Amino acid sequence: MSHTASLANAPLADPSDGGAVHSSPTFAFEPNANPIAANERAAQLVNPGFGRVFTDHMVTIRYSEAAGWHDAKIVARAPFTMDSASAVLHYAQEIFEGMKAYRLPDGGAALFRPTANAARFRSSAERMAMVPLPEELFVESVRAIVRQEADWIPDIDGGALYLRPFMIASEVFLGVKPSAEYLYAVIASSVGAYFKGGAPAVTLWVSQDYTRAAPGGTGAAKCGGNYAASLIAQAEATRQGCDQVLFLDAVERRWIEELGGMNIFFVFDDGTLQTPPLTGTILPGITRDSLITLARDMGLTVREEPYAIDQCRADAASGRLREAFACGTAAVVTPIGTMKMVDGAFDIADGGAGETTSRLRQALIDLQRGVAPDPHGWLERVI
Ligand code: PLP
Ligand code: COI
Repeated sequence: MSHTASLANAPLADPSDGGAVHSSPTFAFEPNANPIAANERAAQLVNPGFGRVFTDHMVTIRYSEAAGWHDAKIVARAPFTMDSASAVLHYAQEIFEGMKAYRLPDGGAALFRPTANAARFRSSAERMAMVPLPEELFVESVRAIVRQEADWIPDIDGGALYLRPFMIASEVFLGVKPSAEYLYAVIASSVGAYFKGGAPAVTLWVSQDYTRAAPGGTGAAKCGGNYAASLIAQAEATRQGCDQVLFLDAVERRWIEELGGMNIFFVFDDGTLQTPPLTGTILPGITRDSLITLARDMGLTVREEPYAIDQCRADAASGRLREAFACGTAAVVTPIGTMKMVDGAFDIADGGAGETTSRLRQALIDLQRGVAPDPHGWLERVI
């Protein structure tokens, strides 16, 4: 079923709506009657932090078995009214995405690989037994919110409009089965750096008590439940004075998997890179995939192979391990300086940002912000 057909009953945008500067034919526009004033918005964009400043509007689309995907709208961002028996509140049938819109040098705005997020959203939906949103509709929805809210992209170093598409099971029913109704939404948040102070290098707590995902589980899906399960380990990391938690595999408790919200790479003294393979227990990061390609474009060797924490520690001691970094939409590329575990901490090289890490980070940022060539066609101009 194409989304055009499934949206047959969505009202078209009203050209007389006044505020719909960027109206889209797919999304009806109901403007926020009380948008934040331009001077107040400017004040919020000076130092937005991460995930606390929200824009005036959101996208919503509903699904029911009878109507398919329907009622696509851009509306004022506001609380949802939900039945207390809505399935998501009981069984956590929920998925989300994280992506950014970047300001281009000419004042326009672009998304980075939005079709990759759309594909991952579909596979997350399939894993969580949810009805997948058509991928073109996903991409249209993020384009529409960026067009509507482009004034919210902060013009600060590292600033972007972070987009959070998500979908929840909205059927009112307490039986345990896949929901027959869904609500999809996209909210947008003006963001700066994820780590406070831009973090020159972060410290990881290696979780030896808790794991994130087991074989056959939901590790490769971007579902809220994975993050709920990670919070106790992240809280432990914070108590230990660390920025992020590093998870090991659930079977042998030995193989490095990923961080609570980022993938991980290692750089060795022979100039090669290594990152854990996608075996179903880690999130297939779009930043991870992009960096593998950018590194290979630079002539570097990248292995997608398991790396054991004991080997990592030994390699850090011997000097074979030269650099490590975390990567993701929120974190971009963040050097890892120190790893801490129950029986002690160890630094990676001098504990600062390494040369390969800095080079890859700059290459990615330049591409995302439209100041470097885009040989892979990853940047999608929206405005
Ligand atoms: N791993 C986890 C658990 C994440 O939450 C994220 C962030 O989305 C990533 C990895 C990186 O994924 P991406 O590069 O697509 O943002
Ligand atoms: C992202 O990078 O988009 C994430 O979802 C990770 C989270 C730490 C914000």
